Amino acid sequence: MKKYYIKTFGCQMNVYDSHRIAVILENLGFKPATSLPDADLVIFNTCHIREKAAEKVFSDLGRLNLIKEERAASGKDTIIGLVGCVVQAEDQQIAKRSPFVDFALGPLTYHRIPEILAQISRKKGITLIDTEFPAESKFDYLPENKSEGGCSFLAIQEGCNNFCTYCVVPYTRGIETSRPVEEIIKEAKLLVEGGSVELNLLGQNVNSYHGEDADGKERNLAYLLRRLNEIDGLKRIRYTTSYPADVNDELIACHRDLPKLMPYLHLPIQSGSDSILKAMNRRHTSGQYLEIIDKLREANPSLGFSSDFIVGFPGETDSDFEATLDVVKKVKYIQAFSFKYSRRAGTPAALMPNQVEEKVKKERLEILQNLLFSYQLKFNKESIGKIMPVLFEIKGRHKGQLIGRTPYMQNLHAELGKEYLNKIVNMRVTEATTNSLTGIKEGE
Ligand code: 5AD
Ligand code: SF4
Repeated sequence: MKKYYIKTFGCQMNVYDSHRIAVILENLGFKPATSLPDADLVIFNTCHIREKAAEKVFSDLGRLNLIKEERAASGKDTIIGLVGCVVQAEDQQIAKRSPFVDFALGPLTYHRIPEILAQISRKKGITLIDTEFPAESKFDYLPENKSEGGCSFLAIQEGCNNFCTYCVVPYTRGIETSRPVEEIIKEAKLLVEGGSVELNLLGQNVNSYHGEDADGKERNLAYLLRRLNEIDGLKRIRYTTSYPADVNDELIACHRDLPKLMPYLHLPIQSGSDSILKAMNRRHTSGQYLEIIDKLREANPSLGFSSDFIVGFPGETDSDFEATLDVVKKVKYIQAFSFKYSRRAGTPAALMPNQVEEKVKKERLEILQNLLFSYQLKFNKESIGKIMPVLFEIKGRHKGQLIGRTPYMQNLHAELGKEYLNKIVNMRVTEATTNSLTGIKEGE
C-alpha cells in the first residue's frame, strides 16, 4: 500500500488545497504516512508571499532529497511533487534548483495529480510542470470534499484583481474567480453532514465574492452567508480575507442579523498612512477604513477585529509609521499579523525607490508588535471569568488536554477528555496570556 505525506506552507487556502489533495490521493488508494521518510509520495504545498517563505521551500526540498536518496539505497522509490504558489512563480527555477522534483503543479492545476501520477509510473525520470491558468475550474474536476473535523475550510473564491503593488497573489493565484452558489451550498452541507459545526469561507478577496446562482443571477457574499446560516447542524460561520473597500452595507447587516456569524473579522489595512496606502494601490484611505470599522461596530458592538500590517514599504517615513500606530490605537485589534516588507520580483513595489533599510524595518516591526500584543493581552485578560462556547479542534501537547477556539479565534487550552473533540463546549476562562487562554468546563 502506497503512503503519502503532504507538507503545507503558507496560508489557510493552502491548508484547504492540501486537504483536497489528500482526498484525491486517498481516492487513489494512498494512505497517510506517519512520517516523511515513510512516504512513497511527498507533496510540498508552497507559499511565495514573502521571500523567507519561498526560500524555506527550497531548503526543505534539499533535505527531502537526502531522504529520497536514503530510501533509494534501500530500494524504495519516492515521488516528490511540488504544488502551490512557488511553482506558479518560479516554474523556470524548479528544474534548475531542484532537479529531483518529479512533478510541479500551480495552485489552479492540482486536480491533474491522478493523471500526472499515471504518467510518472509509465515514464520514469521526467519532470512534469503545469502552470497554465486553465480556462476551466479545478473544482469541476476534484473529487467531493470531506469534513476535516469540527471546523472545515471552504474555498468560495480564488485569485485577486486588486494588484496591491507589493503582492504576488494576482500573479500566482490568477484573477479573481467565484465558485457558483449551489456548488458551495452542496459542499457546505457535505462538510456539515461529515461532522463540521464550523465553516470558514476562504478567498484571497472573499468579500468580493460574486458567484452565479441557480437562476443565473450573480450573488454576493452577504447572500451566501444568509443561505449558509440556514443549514441545520451548522453552528458557526467565518470568512477570510476581506478587502476593506469591498465591505458593503449588506455584509455589515449580516453581522447584525446572523446568529451563526462569529463576532470576529479579519480586515487588513496594511498601513495607516494614506500616502503609503496610495503607493500600495489600496482602494481605501485610513479614514474610510475606520468608518467601515465604526459601521460594523454599530451593527454588532461585540465584534473584534484583526488585521495584517506591512512595515517598511518603500518610502515609509517615521510619520507614515506613526499613522499605522495611530490606527492600531483606535481599532484596538484583538489579534493581528505583521510583517516586514519583502521585495518580490515582478511586483511594482520591488522597483520603487526609497527601499527601507532592514534595520529600520526590524525596529518598526518590534514597536508595532509590542503595541499589538498589548491590546491582544488586554482583550485576553478581559476574557477571564467569562463563559465562552469553545469548539475543540485538536489534542494538546499534554495527555488529557484539548485545544479549541473561542468565537474570537482565541486558542483555549483545557483538561478535557477526547470525547469533547469537535464539539462546542461552554468554558469558563480562568487564565490568559497574549497567545492563549485556559479554561474549565462550565459547571465543573
Ligand atoms: N511583503 C510583506 N508582507 C506581504 N504580504 C503580502 N505581500 C507581502 C510582501 N511583499 C502580507 C500582507 C497580506 C498578507 C497575507 O501578507 O499583509 O495581507
Ligand atoms: Fe495581495 Fe492585495 Fe490581493 Fe490581498 S488584496 S491578495 S494583498 S493583491
